Formats: sequence, C-alpha cells, structure tokens
Amino acid sequence: MKYPSMTILAGICMLTILDACAPERPSPRITRSFNRDWLFILNDAPGASDPGFDDSTWRRLDLPHDWSIEGEFSPEHPATPGGGALPGGIGWYRKHFTIPEEHGEKLVSIEFDGIYQNSEVWINGHFLGKRPCGYISFCYELTPYLQETPGSNVLAVKVDNSLQPNSRWYSGSGIYRDVRLVMTEKVHVNHRGVFVSTPRVSEEEATVKVTTTLRNHFPEPAIVTVTSIIRNDAGSSLAETSTDHEVEGNAVLTAGHQLQVEDPALWSVDAPVLYDLVTEIRSDEQLLDRMITPFGIRHFRFDPENGFSLNGSPLKLKGVCNHHDLGCLGAAAYPRAMERQLELLKEMGCNALRTAHNPPSPILLDLCDRMGFLVMDETFDMWEMGKTPYDYHLYWDRWHERDLTDHIKRDRNHPSVILWSIGNEIPEQWDSSGMEKARKLAAIVRELDDTRPVTSGCNHTSTGNSILRSGALDVIGFNYHLSRYGEVPEDFPGQPFVASETTSALATRGSYDMPSDGIRIWPVRHDSTYPGMNEDHTCSAYDNCHVPWGSTHEESLIAVHGLDHVSGMFVWTGFDYLGEPTPYGWPSRSSYFGILDLAGFPKDAYYLYQSQWTEQPVLHLFPHWNWSKGDTVDVWTYTSCDRVELFLNGESLGVREKEGGSLHIQWRVLYEPGRLEARGMSKSRELTGVVETTGAPAGVRLKADRVMIRADGRDLSFVTVEIVDKQGRVVPDADNLVLFHLTGPGEITGVDNGLQTSMEPFRASRRSAFNGLCLVVIKSGYEPGRMVLQADSEGLVPAEIQIQTH
Ligand code: GAL
Repeated sequence: MKYPSMTILAGICMLTILDACAPERPSPRITRSFNRDWLFILNDAPGASDPGFDDSTWRRLDLPHDWSIEGEFSPEHPATPGGGALPGGIGWYRKHFTIPEEHGEKLVSIEFDGIYQNSEVWINGHFLGKRPCGYISFCYELTPYLQETPGSNVLAVKVDNSLQPNSRWYSGSGIYRDVRLVMTEKVHVNHRGVFVSTPRVSEEEATVKVTTTLRNHFPEPAIVTVTSIIRNDAGSSLAETSTDHEVEGNAVLTAGHQLQVEDPALWSVDAPVLYDLVTEIRSDEQLLDRMITPFGIRHFRFDPENGFSLNGSPLKLKGVCNHHDLGCLGAAAYPRAMERQLELLKEMGCNALRTAHNPPSPILLDLCDRMGFLVMDETFDMWEMGKTPYDYHLYWDRWHERDLTDHIKRDRNHPSVILWSIGNEIPEQWDSSGMEKARKLAAIVRELDDTRPVTSGCNHTSTGNSILRSGALDVIGFNYHLSRYGEVPEDFPGQPFVASETTSALATRGSYDMPSDGIRIWPVRHDSTYPGMNEDHTCSAYDNCHVPWGSTHEESLIAVHGLDHVSGMFVWTGFDYLGEPTPYGWPSRSSYFGILDLAGFPKDAYYLYQSQWTEQPVLHLFPHWNWSKGDTVDVWTYTSCDRVELFLNGESLGVREKEGGSLHIQWRVLYEPGRLEARGMSKSRELTGVVETTGAPAGVRLKADRVMIRADGRDLSFVTVEIVDKQGRVVPDADNLVLFHLTGPGEITGVDNGLQTSMEPFRASRRSAFNGLCLVVIKSGYEPGRMVLQADSEGLVPAEIQIQTH
C-alpha cells in the first residue's frame, strides 16, 4: 500500500468531511465470531500443538464451553466442595479453519475473552503464548503464521486446570468465553486503542475526551487522518473532529481529541442512554479502519459526607456481589444467562454489581451499560500472599502488572463501571508489604484511567490496615463490620466510603424451620456440626441464619439507613454460586448466600429487597401452608404496605405493622389447613397475598421466560417446571423426578433445582423438583424452527411447551 505525502494532507481533511455525509462504507475491520466447530478432548494430548496431529476422534463443540459443569460431583475432585466438587484436569481444543476470503492483505489476530486457566495457544505449530490467569481477556497476532490453502490452519489451545484448589469457589474449566477473529488493515486502531471519557458534564454540554492509539505495521511512515464522530442512538452525528498524523514505521502513535455534545442525554440507572464513538482512520481517500465504541455521558462522585451521587443526584448503591458462574451452565458465558440474572436483579430494585472477585465477561459489562447497573469492577482476590495452594499468588510476580493493565484497558469505556477494586480481602492488609503493593497497583490503574476511583474490599477495618493506611485508595471499602460504618468519618477523615461486601446470610429456597426468631450464627466451629443444623443440610429461609462475620439481610439493610456517608452496599450474594457451601461440608457443593438460588428462583429475601429498594407494591407472604395440624407456624410478610391484616380461613388473626424498626411483619399461628390470606393497607393501595394448603402432586406445568428466541446457537429459554396439585397450585415440598424430551432445532443445555446438596448432574434430560420447582435451560440451534419440550413425571399429568427460534 502507498501512503500520501504531507503535501496532500489538507485534501485528506476535506475528503473526510465530505465522506461523513456520504452513505457509510463498510469498515475494513472485519470481526468474526470464532466460537463454532472446535474439537475438544478432556485429557492431556502431547503433540496436539502440531498441525498434523490426529484429532479425528475428538468431540466437536461450539463455544462457550465449560467442561467442569459436564462432570459428576465428587468430594474426591481436587477442587473440593469449596470449588464446587466438580472435575478439573487438562483439556485440549483444536480448530481447523480457512482465513475468510475478505482478509486480502489484512492482519489477522485472535481475541479470547477468557480461558480457565493456564492456557497455551499455538497456530500451525507456532507457540503464541501462555496466560495463567483464567479471567483475563487477551489477544494474539496470527498473520505471519497463517496459510492460504483452505482448511490448512490449525489453532491449538491447551488448558490446564489440574492443580486445584486454585480458587475459593467454582471456576469452570476451558474456553468458557467468546473467541473472535479480527482482521485489520496494516494501519489500524490498536487493540484496546480507544479510550473515551467524559471529564466535564453538565445538563447543557458535555466534553468527550478521546485518545486513540494507532498502529502502523508498515516499515515506512504512514500519514493518516484520525476522525472521531459522536453519534446518538438514532445514528445522527452530533460532533466530529479530525487530526492528521504521521505514524513512524512499525510504531504506535496516540492521538487526542476533545469533542462537545450539546444537551447530552445523561446515562443513568433508570435511563441508560448510550452514544457511539465512531473512530475512523483514513489515508488519502482510503478508509483504513472504523471502530465503534459505545459510551455513556454521565458524572458521578463519591463524597466523604454525602456518599455516592450520579449526575448530581444522591443515589445509594443497592448492589450485590456475584461470582461469574451461571448455575447449571457453569462458567460458560452465555449472554442471555447473564441478561436473565440482571433482569431478575433489576426487578428486585438492585442498581449495582460487584464482579466478585475477578474481571467479568465483557458481555456482562455491555449488559450493565445497556440495562443501567453501576459496577465495582474487581481484578484480584489475592496478591502475592495466596488463599489456596495453587491460586494466582503463584503467578503474581510475573503477571500482575500485565493482567491489571489488560483489565483496565478492556473495561474503561463502560459507563457502568464506577469503581476499580484492586482486591478483595487481600492478606497483605495485615502485612506491611500491603502498603507498597497497594500504591503500585493504584498507580497502574490511575495511569490508565484517572476518571474512576480505586477501592479495595477490606475485612481488616482498623486504621492499622496497610492497604487503608497506604493512601492508595480513593474510596474506603469495608467487607462486613456493620458496626464500624459510623466510625469511618472519624477513622478515615475526608475519605468516601462504600460497604463493599455485606450480609452472608444463609438460606435454602422454600425451607423453613420453626421458630423463626432465634438467630443462628454458623459455623460455630469449622470442624464440627452445629446444634440445630438440619441433617439434610437445608437451611431455613427466614433470614435468621448467617456466618459469624456476616449479618442477616435485614440487619445489613438497617445498618446503612440514615448514614449519608455510606455510598451503598454490595450484598453477598445476588445468586447462589457453585462452591463455598459454608457452613456445610459435603454433600453440600454450592453456596447458601444467594438472594436467589442457583437456578435463579427467588428466596424469600428477594421480596425484602424489593419492598425496600423499589417503589413497587409488594406483599410477600410466607411460608407455604402445608404443615401438620397442631403445628405452630411463624408467618412473615415483606411488604411495602404500612399495615397488614392476616386471615386464616376467613378469620382475622389481627392487624400488624412493622415494629421497632423491623423490616418484616410476623405472626405466630396455630396451623389449620386451608387458606392464609394477608391484606395489606397503605394510603394509596390495598394488596393481597395468599398461601393455601395444596393437595398431592397431580401434574407438571411449564413456564418459559421466552417462547421466541434467536436461532444463533447460543440463545436460551429458561423453562420453570412446577409440580402442581389438581387445582394448579405449586406443591411446596414436591420432589418428583421429571423427564424431559426435546424435539426441534435446539438442545437441553442444563437442568437444576436450586438444592445445594443435589448430586444430580447439570447436563441431563431429567431432574427432580426441589420444593416444587426445577429448571430446564433450552439452547437454540442455528436453524429457525419450532422446538417442543415435553415434561413427564410418573403418576402426574405431563406438560409440553413450544419454543420458536427465528
Ligand atoms: C467474604 C469473602 C467472599 C466470601 C464470603 C462468604 O469474606 O470476601 O469471597 O468468601 O466471605 O461469606
């Protein structure tokens, strides 16, 4: 390719302006999903990096893929129940491919969003590199090693997750996030080369700052024009600026732009308006690159006295911490599974997410941008001092700078991200080395992004904590220690504060032990069973059980009431996750901390948050009404109403209100079968909640969250399976085994019931209900068509549902 000389530079600028009005030409940058048609073997396969290796017997699959989730539970797996009791091991992936025809003379690179862990990658036998960190996204250039002959290229990936435990929960194993092939001209926007921020924002005008790093892959200098255009969601251009540059041969260059947007629509949790930054590189008349970066215009502040504010208005962070696994799908990062989680959280009133404790899938952040969630984006769960024998501390020295840099560069354009967390409960809090390390990490972050504060989740909350003392944090983050919140302004004067982790309350969905008013703090000791603990490892869902360092949901919510300086809270956790079944040991293999269970079914606490965090009318009455005559049953409501009257079989049991600052209303009732009804009263509305004594299981009922999904090989329909009595009421303790049969263009990709001790595999076409419910996840194929899911259970009326793919 020939590049124009300086003399015709002025002409380039004119052309750029005219071009902006012309219909848009396709970008020379080509991005192709690289998720389909991989070959896989769950074993070490020495020699498999060699292109000629015989992989004819390997399994064919599409990404994302997590091999651990396909395995069987066993306490013998090195992950231990703390890691989900599922297998790890070594696996190999290979993909035979032809470079797309359009590539011409382009450079070709491959982007991996995440491989757990210790990935090594080869192209046509050439070693591209190793990445120990399983959460980080990375990219390799393939160009010099590619071959033109159709089908002649082989990408080989070795994944080694054999040394465990290497995480304090379930990690998943394999190429569990997306892979893309990217083709660019030899002069192009560098990988992660665009950084857009909004340093000054008012109602009238916003300043948008853009830095663009270009790369010239030619040996000779290139003279180019870099253009930044801001477009609104209707595609109209609102601002544009261009600059000319000479980029040395085989070099990178960073161009800076500043643009103004008048009357900007501000991004917020209720109105997450996005703009597009269009970056174009031209030389002469030729468009060399065009990239689109969605961004938001917003400003926020963490204030030492008044907490968090977004666009000038105070806003409490109503947040949850979440691990990356997606229930029965494991770590496989399906966009719809993440979107469903966020939809359920949004409905609960949640407005913030902490990516505990590692870089999330980039898709999650795209969804947060689009759906209006504020994100505390966290990089590390440990630094140089490890928490488990084989965790990241082994790689710290060699990799932490690189991984942190890659993480910040990847995520810094997301308007949802408002906090960088450099670590969770880092052991160096207690060690003098924490001071220096915290400073170094915070400096790396600030060098790459000076628009967001740095924090860390600290469980050592005294002023002696090395990380807190280091001065490296912009926002003080406490994990737990509710009683210390009030002391923060005195102990850490002038420093904003967030409750980075709270609660750790325990519950099994739909399980209730009487009485409900004794608080159980478990584990009492790590090496024994606990008085009052159920032998079946179910834990009562009355919000009266928590770990010693935690608190009930209600206590945690109350702790931030009236404390203006507390920016908000992140509850541990939004969803149950695989691993960390504290306080229980085997056969428990997933956590009890979620507000929703592993299948995504809400526990009762969900409605506590909904009654506190939303303006919605809420009256949630529990427990179920299938007890034995003569039992004494504690009846609770979570409600937005001022007063509630309870009726048993039409007879009033009295009107009650929330008393003494409590966030629920409670009655103690002598059980009679029949109908329990709560009528809530407030100034503006009356609400009713009902539970009824059901008959025996009589039928199966199916409810899909979506009956129309895309035929893209990765869209999902989540089908809730209910065991109902003759009158169609969910039987609250039903555990019937349900058999599934699917016809049409798709497959059953997971089943679950939310029970923390279930040994049934997730990859199956059968599942026992637990407390009346189970879940089937259907994945679309690539052909549009109609799927039919049938559900049969012995002695019950079967059910069927149709799901269309388009
Ligand atoms: C916290 C920790 C979390 C999780 C939680 C369980 O101390 O930060 O990762 O382990 O405890 O209660």
